[in-house]
Amino acid sequence: MKHIAIFASGTGSNALAIAQHFADNPVATVKIALSNRANAAVHDKMKTAGVPTVSFSREQWLQGDEILDLLHANDIDLIVLAGFLCIIPDTIISAYERRIINIHPSLLPRHGGPGMWGHHVHQAVIDAGDNQSGITIHHVTTEVDGGKIIFQATCPVMPDDTPDTLAERIHGLEHAHFPAVVEQLLNTL
Ligand code: GAR
Repeated sequence: MKHIAIFASGTGSNALAIAQHFADNPVATVKIALSNRANAAVHDKMKTAGVPTVSFSREQWLQGDEILDLLHANDIDLIVLAGFLCIIPDTIISAYERRIINIHPSLLPRHGGPGMWGHHVHQAVIDAGDNQSGITIHHVTTEVDGGKIIFQATCPVMPDDTPDTLAERIHGLEHAHFPAVVEQLLNTL
């Protein structure tokens, strides 16, 4: 049985989809969810799924050691970033090389990089006049949104889309695919 840690900064709908997928699954379990925001909705969502959560300060994040200790104490095999908006310190990237993945709400390399998250991404897709968007699940490296792509899925962008309506369509794709992609990856570790 493999152990997953989820990092999330906000609503936590992807974190919940993953926790539910692995609630009764012999491949893995979600051991812990971590957030940089003590009042993020992900804490309550994870509570409903029986997953303990922890929040941490900016200093604890940048320093890294306490968080690494927590990951090691929980015997974590895979770190899943699910709407997590902090840059990952090199110490954590090197300790979990090729075992950190992220979901991004566009078809990378389009609309990725520093500052591109959530509604900023959807606004950029609409502003660019793209008629297609989608999701990208990728390995995390020191280059923001630059790691090897594991999976992509597409959806149309409608002429009357707003960032909110596009976000809703993208969330549907994420919930449909992210948990299964995590499971496939765990089977290769
Ligand atoms: C998701 O759409 C995810 O792709 C995006 O944040 C949202 C979090 O939703 N991540 C990024 O933009 C990272 N650059 P959730 O909190 O409901 O899972």
